[in-house]
Amino acid sequence: MHKLLKLTSQLILSTLLMSTSIASEVNIYTSRHYDSDDALYAEFTKTTGIQVNVISGSGNALMERLKAEGDTSPADIFFTVDAGNLWRVQKEGYFKSINSKKINDIVPNNLRGPNDEWIAIAKRARVVFYNPDNTSIEELSNLSYEDLADPRWNGGIAIRSSNNMYNQSLVASLIANHGIELTEKWAKGLVANFIRKPQGNDRAQIIAVANGEAKLAVANSYYVGIMLSGSAGNDQLEAAKKVKIYFPNQDNRGAHINISGAGILKYAPNSHNAIKFLEFLLSERVQRYMVNLSFEYPVLENIEPHPSIAQFGLTFKEDQTSVADYGKYNLNAVQLMDRAGWQ
Ligand SMILES: [Fe+2]
Repeated sequence: MHKLLKLTSQLILSTLLMSTSIASEVNIYTSRHYDSDDALYAEFTKTTGIQVNVISGSGNALMERLKAEGDTSPADIFFTVDAGNLWRVQKEGYFKSINSKKINDIVPNNLRGPNDEWIAIAKRARVVFYNPDNTSIEELSNLSYEDLADPRWNGGIAIRSSNNMYNQSLVASLIANHGIELTEKWAKGLVANFIRKPQGNDRAQIIAVANGEAKLAVANSYYVGIMLSGSAGNDQLEAAKKVKIYFPNQDNRGAHINISGAGILKYAPNSHNAIKFLEFLLSERVQRYMVNLSFEYPVLENIEPHPSIAQFGLTFKEDQTSVADYGKYNLNAVQLMDRAGWQ
């Protein structure tokens, strides 16, 4: 978590950039917490000559900053994770429509905000993790998110707290499909099945499954890729080796999909460069590069995710529920989780 906003200037000044000077820049506000993004920015500068200035911070801090800056904000792009967060930025009126045929052709409707004000750059699935030593694949047959509320999983489920946006978006997707009443009933059943009061992040839930504490964990797909890479230490690597992904709802609407995404800000001084940057992120080469570093799924269909994610399956069915619904029903989701006793 970034406590302070920090301005990181990419100092890759090519001869071309120097000759085109200040006009060739794009300013990105980002709450993504991946070191790999820095390499992306450098690559964009190398390819286009456009300098990338990055301000990174928490979503809330960046929103406050946008508010304070008003129409004098230098921000061109807001780059963040979870459709729920992008929705919040849109609701404040900070975005404008992204006008690019290229982008329109690439990003499916269900992975965009209203009026095309934000778009997916990469996808992640919020899936079920299990340890085959403790839970057989037969036990999971046709498992759905809805089934997680079944008493047969009593004392078996690990999931993080309700103040986490990933969970709020999952619940919002259930509201979009079943309405508030049924989803609340479901949430109560799910809470009754928790192995413990929600604690820790997504990786902590995966670890609980790896060490046999929980039968099932709900977490984002890319975390197992990060853990398997070894970059997070040996304990996480060993835990990740023990678990497998189960993609829920394969016999109906599909596994819950969320996004990393971006929008262009209303007062962007470099809109043209901003569109170029988003098109760059959606190019084949960069999609491949990006998902190899972040372990997410690409938006471009003909690209494969990193092999350590691909090993769990490439042809799973994805829920086509519009990610914009996660924002639309966020408040309902938060209130409902509270009523259900989801801490
Ligand atoms: Fe994450």
